[in-house]
Amino acid sequence: MIGPDRPNPLIYGDFDRMVTVVVRGERFAVPEGIPLIRALQYMQFELGRLTCDWSLFCFNDTIGCCACKVRKPGADEAEGARACCLRVEDGLEVVRMPRSARVLPSALSLAEAELARGASDGPDDPGGAP
Ligand code: FES
Repeated sequence: MIGPDRPNPLIYGDFDRMVTVVVRGERFAVPEGIPLIRALQYMQFELGRLTCDWSLFCFNDTIGCCACKVRKPGADEAEGARACCLRVEDGLEVVRMPRSARVLPSALSLAEAELARGASDGPDDPGGAP
């Protein structure tokens, strides 16, 4: 069944489980073994946590338009990669995103920011009640 727990296999392919990737220090569960560029789309369209202008990408390894930097599991150093060619694995870390891709704050972190702003700004109606 397709749904939040079972993403559409026509888009993300067949997979057996979810793996954790780290993007800009935050952990995301994505389908195992899909290309990183698809995992980023999963983060955008299924999780609502990424924005990207996909019209900038060729999707077929021609011009390096998806260049990024990753640290593979167990590696000490980050290395350059193409997001359309690299398949995600558990513990993969994206240390530099492809161009225009940006992680969005979660609804929870937005709510926390709003609460913090409200706590520091004081009441919304400075005139107060009569
Ligand atoms: S999407 Fe163009 S080279 Fe990867």
